[in-house]
Amino acid sequence: MLAIVRTAALFGVEAHPVRVEVDVSDGGLPAITLVGLPDASVRESRDRIQSAIRNSGFEFPSRRVTVNLSPADMRKVGSAFDLPIALGMLAAAGLVPRQGLDRMVTVGELALDGAVRPVRGILPIAAQARRDGVDGVMLPDANAGEAAIVTGLTVLPVTTLDEAVAVLTGRAPRRVAQVPRAVPAPAAAPDLADVRGQALARRALEIAAAGGHNLLFIGPPGAGKSMLARRLPGILPALTTEEALEVTTIYSVAGLLPPGGGLVTTPPFRAPHHTASDVALAGGGAMPRPGEISLAHNGVLLLDEAAEFARHVLDVLRQPLEEGEVQVARAARTVVFPARFLLVATMNPCICGYLGESTRPCRCSPHQVARYRSRLSGPLLDRIDLSVRVPAVPFKAMTETALGEASSAVRRRVAAARGTQQERNRSPAGAPVNARLQGRALSRHCALDPSGLGILDAASRRFHLSARSCHRLMKVARTIADLAGGERIGAEHLAEAVQFRLEE
Ligand SMILES: Nc1ncnc2c1ncn2[C@@H]1O[C@H](COP(=O)(O)OP(=O)(O)OP(=O)(O)O)[C@@H](O)[C@H]1O
Ligand SMILES: [Mg+2]
Ligand SMILES: [Zn+2]
Repeated sequence: MLAIVRTAALFGVEAHPVRVEVDVSDGGLPAITLVGLPDASVRESRDRIQSAIRNSGFEFPSRRVTVNLSPADMRKVGSAFDLPIALGMLAAAGLVPRQGLDRMVTVGELALDGAVRPVRGILPIAAQARRDGVDGVMLPDANAGEAAIVTGLTVLPVTTLDEAVAVLTGRAPRRVAQVPRAVPAPAAAPDLADVRGQALARRALEIAAAGGHNLLFIGPPGAGKSMLARRLPGILPALTTEEALEVTTIYSVAGLLPPGGGLVTTPPFRAPHHTASDVALAGGGAMPRPGEISLAHNGVLLLDEAAEFARHVLDVLRQPLEEGEVQVARAARTVVFPARFLLVATMNPCICGYLGESTRPCRCSPHQVARYRSRLSGPLLDRIDLSVRVPAVPFKAMTETALGEASSAVRRRVAAARGTQQERNRSPAGAPVNARLQGRALSRHCALDPSGLGILDAASRRFHLSARSCHRLMKVARTIADLAGGERIGAEHLAEAVQFRLEE
């Protein structure tokens, strides 16, 4: 008897439909043959399935069982096929009605005792099931929340193989998943109110958040660079529904959603340590997981002590900074993960950390300084719109300086400036933030008047700016004008933008 069960395989952040065909036949020796499963991890599932079926109190068919996963040319990895294969075997053996199994998507890993364990990537699998118009999705109870984000889809959570069978035979009532609440925002995000002084750095944070500009803080030890950088996520506006779905999908594929699931509505913040590997940053693995840069999608990636990262690790950032996505090469095919993040980096000006400080002499040779700076490879520095010198503030001066404005107040201005940009870039292909303006949209929206052009010309001579660097200045000036509510970019906006360049 042949049974067919629908399931899905994950590629990057996409789910592709997979059909499990199970044939149980008499004749020949009792054996299980798995076809269309090139990966060892799926072959292991044969043992899990056998134990799970026995330990759930079902008679394992002692006949010839052939399981085929199609399409055959699709690489299938992971343990999420356990439940559909087990149900297919039981259906082919006549223990579960075959009707309905082919109109429902089933996913889940089985434990040896028959428990159904959570799997990664349920949100894209559920979204694909909805598009395919299936009757429902049967899945691990722990994953029910994230599947229930998809509206108009019946989600049937199960905790054991026995419960799955009971639901399919009508022995137990169907439990339908409740739509979850949003994932709560991380408690007590650090607030800008804690920062005394540092007006220029605070201003840079606001401009970065408003226009999506990458930012570098450079200064001596203890100046407050890390403290400032960690306060960038807190001044970003909440995610739009579309952004929230993108982020939640990535966290679903990474297996990082809290139990119960729910939509991630606050911009993510990731701060990988400088010892992180290229795979940790870019993503990878047999069943590719998103890396730090994708976990920071629509949010903030902090590279603290950026010069301490290995060069080849920093190189991973080039393509994503350019294209907003990262390609993770696999033996069989390349998967693409979204990776559009706001970059904030910190570094010391030199190895000893005190170059340019009046408080202490720098002990580095010019050669050492040059080598240290070159660690942030040109292409990376080239993607940073705002560079800010963060000076050490003497303790006494610090205690006499008032505490700063709260993040919530800054966030309101940022949201208003973002709104202005959205209005202006309403074309479907329009860049949502100024930092991503290109080509004609850039020339149209960042046009300068004669006085602005004069300042740009002077700056380009003084700093030997490339055409690209000039464009960057214009985009930063555009954001400054947007924060000021100005329609046109004025000379004062451009003049402020010029401050956020490092003297080379
Ligand atoms: N402007 C400031 N207002 C309030 N506290 C500050 C300020 N600057 C520094 N501090 C205090 O000093 C501590 C050290 O700052 P932080 O770790 O951000 O320095 P850093 O520039 O990252 O140094 P390093 O180069 O050593 O990493 C902060 O945790 C904070 O307590
Ligand atoms: Mg620091
Ligand atoms: Zn030095």
